[in-house]
Amino acid sequence: MGASGYIGQHFARRLARHPAFADPLLLAGDRSVGRRLDDVWALDVPVPPELADRRFVARTPRQLQAARVNLAFGALPSGHAGPLESELLQRGIAVFTNAADHRRDAGVPLLVPEVNADHLRVLGGRDSRRPPLVANPNCTATGLVLALAPVWDLLAPAAVHVTTYQARSGAGIPGLGAAELSANVIPHIAGEEEKVAVETAVLLGKRRGRRVVPSAVPILVHAARVPTRDGHLEAVTVVARRAPSESSLRRAWTEFDPLARLPLPTAPHPPIQLATEDDRPQPALDVWAGTPASARGMAAVVGRIRWSAPHLRFFVLTHNAVRGGAGGSVLNAELALAAGDLRPRGTG
Ligand SMILES: NC(=O)c1ccc[n+]([C@@H]2O[C@H](COP(=O)([O-])OP(=O)(O)OC[C@H]3O[C@@H](n4cnc5c(N)ncnc54)[C@H](OP(=O)(O)O)[C@@H]3O)[C@@H](O)[C@H]2O)c1
Repeated sequence: MGASGYIGQHFARRLARHPAFADPLLLAGDRSVGRRLDDVWALDVPVPPELADRRFVARTPRQLQAARVNLAFGALPSGHAGPLESELLQRGIAVFTNAADHRRDAGVPLLVPEVNADHLRVLGGRDSRRPPLVANPNCTATGLVLALAPVWDLLAPAAVHVTTYQARSGAGIPGLGAAELSANVIPHIAGEEEKVAVETAVLLGKRRGRRVVPSAVPILVHAARVPTRDGHLEAVTVVARRAPSESSLRRAWTEFDPLARLPLPTAPHPPIQLATEDDRPQPALDVWAGTPASARGMAAVVGRIRWSAPHLRFFVLTHNAVRGGAGGSVLNAELALAAGDLRPRGTG
């Protein structure tokens, strides 16, 4: 859904040859129905040949149900996405969404698999027969929690301060051409600072049965839009209550790989890469970090680490549309499939 947009096109790349989710129907709005993926392609990487000629179509939830579709990936604008996603669920179709509408609903896990895989257990809330609705967090929160999770318990933070340098593509295809972003920085992204603070607290929160109790650590955010194309860079300061050695912090980051034993085709191993050069991470050089090849763009790059208790300072970079968008959603679906929360393809 929203397959003609920036996140939708990244979905097409990730699903074109996916072992479990390949051969998608590409749904779009009135502007794009009838056009081919190739006609609207806006990414700076090649269009997947398997889907280049595929035309965008319009389908109602009722038509999708009749066609025995059982899984939808969502890349629609928030506001428009919510009611449609609710109707899909009522019709037995699982939804993995990038939109914000249902992120705070009971029974909807907000998920970054390396950080809070156990939050998948909140699925469905009181109605456990409902198909899963799983939300990605905001793309900036994704990078922040990936960097914080490995060192969280070592530091026992009293507060986290973060200033973001967010790429144009975070505003979708309209953001790529936005004239006000030419040689400029805009110190405001509507709703972003609140979303990052609230969602980071949920992601780092503890699950109690089918509820998540958010972390109470204050997260103070400044969000700015900068004229880079892809990749959200974040300058993070953690105010710590403990004083571990710098080597133990570095080891916690480099050894972090909680999905190592799970068969998730697009999980990055390792999920955190430590940059050693003084001038990294840079969006232009590091945004596609991630191994194996199926996980390019899925790793977070942490660098410029400075530790002088009680302040740990570092930068983290993630690809907003891959790790923070389509790739994060596909990884969530891979986790749900491996956990038995998703019916395999063709089971109706
Ligand atoms: N960009 C990012 O880095 C990022 C990261 C994480 C999450 N997200 C979230 O992902 C979602 C998509 O963002 P995006 O950046 O891909 O935006 P985008 O490039 O503007 O794409 C929007 C998509 O939604 C479709 N659409 C818009 N209005 C519609 C309507 N009324 N009915 C049906 N389809 C409609 C568009 O279709 P047409 O081509 O027909 O107009 C297009 O396919 C948003 O909720 C956003 O907040 C974005």
